[in-house]
Amino acid sequence: MDLRHWKLETDSDNLAWLTFDRAGATTNTFSSEALRELGQVVDHLRAMPPKGLAILSAKENGFAAGADIEEFTKIASAEEAMAFLVLGNEVFDKVEALAFPTVAMVHGFCMGGGTELALACRYRVMDDGPKTRMGLPEVMLGIVPGWGGAKRMPQLIGAAAALDLMLTGRAVDARRAKKLGLVDAVTPRRHFPNAAKKMLLEPPPRHAPGLMAAATNWAGVRNIVASQAQKQVAQRARRDHYPAPYAIIELWRDFGGDVRNVPKDHPASMASLYNHPTTRNLIRIFTLQDRLKALGKEASGEVRHLHVIGAGAMGGDIAAWCALRGMTVTLQDLAPERIAPAVKRGADLYRKRLKQKHLVQAAMDRLIPDVAGNGVARADLVIEAIVENAEVKRKVFAQVEPRMKPTAILASNTSSIPLQELAGVLQRPERLVGIHFFNPVAQMQLVEIVQGPQTSEEVMQAAQAFTRQIDKLPLPCKSAPGFLVNRVLSPYLNEAMLMVDEGLPPETIDAAAKDFGMPMGPIELADMVGLDICWAVGQELAKPGSTVPKKLQANVEAKNLGMKSGKGFYAWVKGKPQKTTTGTGSVDLKALADRLVAPALNESVACLRERIVADADLVDVGMIFGTGFAPHRGGPIQTIRARGKAEWLKILEDLKARHGLRFEPDSGWASL
Ligand code: NAI
Repeated sequence: MDLRHWKLETDSDNLAWLTFDRAGATTNTFSSEALRELGQVVDHLRAMPPKGLAILSAKENGFAAGADIEEFTKIASAEEAMAFLVLGNEVFDKVEALAFPTVAMVHGFCMGGGTELALACRYRVMDDGPKTRMGLPEVMLGIVPGWGGAKRMPQLIGAAAALDLMLTGRAVDARRAKKLGLVDAVTPRRHFPNAAKKMLLEPPPRHAPGLMAAATNWAGVRNIVASQAQKQVAQRARRDHYPAPYAIIELWRDFGGDVRNVPKDHPASMASLYNHPTTRNLIRIFTLQDRLKALGKEASGEVRHLHVIGAGAMGGDIAAWCALRGMTVTLQDLAPERIAPAVKRGADLYRKRLKQKHLVQAAMDRLIPDVAGNGVARADLVIEAIVENAEVKRKVFAQVEPRMKPTAILASNTSSIPLQELAGVLQRPERLVGIHFFNPVAQMQLVEIVQGPQTSEEVMQAAQAFTRQIDKLPLPCKSAPGFLVNRVLSPYLNEAMLMVDEGLPPETIDAAAKDFGMPMGPIELADMVGLDICWAVGQELAKPGSTVPKKLQANVEAKNLGMKSGKGFYAWVKGKPQKTTTGTGSVDLKALADRLVAPALNESVACLRERIVADADLVDVGMIFGTGFAPHRGGPIQTIRARGKAEWLKILEDLKARHGLRFEPDSGWASL
C-alpha cells in the first residue's frame, strides 16, 4: 500500500497501529485523498485481520480537526459536497464494521470528522491534558455532523446530551467526555501505547448509555426531545438566519442521523444547506479566523513575564487573563487596595475556568501584585492600561522605559490616544505598539494591534504573537482615532440613541437590530459598554453633521451610566436590562435596521479607503469578532455585497435627505 497520510504498523502481538499524519500539514484534516487512503487501509485490515486496531495521530496539536475546509470551500456544487459526505460515511461505516476491536487514541483537539472517526471505533481513550477537547462544531459552519456523528453520538450518550453538543458546537475536555460516556478511558498521552494494548487485548464491554439516555432515542420519546431542542434553538436563532441547528434536529429525528437518507429538496439536506448564504458566510469567517490565527508566526521568542501598569477594569482583567494562559504577570497600580479587586476577579475567573483547586492556586501564584513596579525590569512585555490621559501616560512611559530589558516591548491599551502622541518621550519609539483589548477581556476574542508611524515591523509581529499566545485573535490596525472596531460601532450606537430622542422605545430599536441578526440590540449594548465611555468615544469620533444624543447627555450628567450604575436607557437588575415595552406595533423593523446599519457600513467603507486594516476581509472578521456583527451575514462589507452597493447607496442618500449630513456616503464607495 502506498500511503501518503497514514502509517500502518503491526506489532508482535498482532495489533495494528494506524497513525494519521496528513502530508505537508501541521494539523490533521480529512481531505478526500486522506479518506480514500483510510478506506484502503481498512480494506487491507479486513482481508488480513489483526487482533485489534489503534488509531493515533502523529501531530503534536491533536487527533484531527475535521474535514479539510480548504477542500470544502473549493467544492463547486451541492452534488460535489454530497459526494464528499458520502465518501466519509462509507469509509467510517467500514471502520465501524471491522470484526476486531478498534480504539481511537485522542489527544489535543478532536473536532468534527475527527470525532466522527473516533465514534466509528469501538472504544475511545482520551488524554487528560488541558488542550485536549472533543466536539462536533459543524453547526458553527452552518452544516451538520454529516459523517455519522449525528447518528452515532446520540446512540452512544443519549440524544439530549448529544443534541446539546451538536447544537452549540461546544467541545468537552476529558473529564466531561468520560462523564458523558463519550470516551471509555482517560489517561495521559504518554501512557497511550499501554492503554491501547490493554483495551485491544482484553476488550471490555462496549459503552452503552443508561436507560434514561437510551430512551431519548426511542420513537415516542424522540419527538418530545426534538421539540424541546427546537424550542431552545428558536430562542437563540431564527431558521432563515441559521438553518443548520434546525437541520441537525430533523436529521436525527426523521432520518436516523444519516445525511444519505435526507431527500435533496428537504430543508435539512446537504443541498439546501450548501445553497444557503449563511453557510458560505460562516465558512468564510472560519477561514478568516484561521488567517488571524496564523499572524505573528514570524516573531522570535515568546512572552514569559508580562508587566501590566494599571489594575482597573481593563488592566486588571488583562493581567488575570494572561496569568490564566500561563504567563507570570506582575500587576502595578498606585496602591495595593487598587490591585486587590483585580486579584479577586482573577480568582473568580480561575475557579470558573480551571475548577481544580491546584490549578486555581497555580494561576493565582502567577498573578503578582507589584505596587513598586519591580516586574518592569524582568518583563518581556509591559502593557500600560492607566487612565485615558496622554500627559499621565507619557510620564509613566518616561519612568518605565529606562528600566525595561533592551529586548522588551512597550504597549498601550489606549482606546483613543494616537501612539505618535505618546512615543515622543521614548528613546526607542519603535518598540511602542498599541495592544487594544475589548471589554470584557475574558469574553472578547479580538485584540486590535495598533501600528503607530514609528512602530517597527518586528514589534508588530511580536505583539501579534503575544495575542496568539493568550488565545486571542490579533487584528493589525493603523493608528487612527477609534481604530477599526470603535470607529464602525460608534455611528451605529449613536444612531440608535438618536432614535430614542425621537421617541422610539429602546426595546423597539433593539428588536430591529436583533431582527437584522445582531446578537444584542445597540441600546442594550451601549448600556453595557457604559454611557460615559459611549459619550467619550462619540466626542472623539464626532464628524460634521453628527449630533450628541440628548438622552445620552442627560444620562451621563445624571450619572446613569448603564449596567454598571444600575440605570441607563434601561433599568438593570442582576446584570439584566428590564425591558418593559412588548411588541413592536406597526413599526417597520427592516427600515429601522437599515437606518441603524447604514452608518456602520458607510464607516466600514471609510476604514477600507483609509486602509485602517489591510483589506475588506479584515473589516468583516474584525467586526464579527470585535462586536458580534451579524455573523450569518458575514460582516459589514459582505452585507454590502449581498444586497448590492447601488441599493445601499440609495438607502444612504434617502437617509441623508431625511436626517442630514451624517449619512453622506463616504468617497470610498466609488472604488468598492
Ligand atoms: P480604570 O479607570 O478602570 O483603571 C485605570 C487604573 O489605572 C486605575 O486603577 C488607576 O489607579 C490606575 N492608574 C492611574 N495612574 C496610574 C499610574 N501612574 N501608575 C499606575 N496605575 C495608575 O480604566 P480602564 O477602563 O481600565 O481603562 C484603562 C485604559 O484602557 C485606558 O487607556 C482606556 O482607554 C483603555 N480601554 C478601556 C476600555 C473600557 O471598556 N474601559 C476598553 C479598551 C481600552
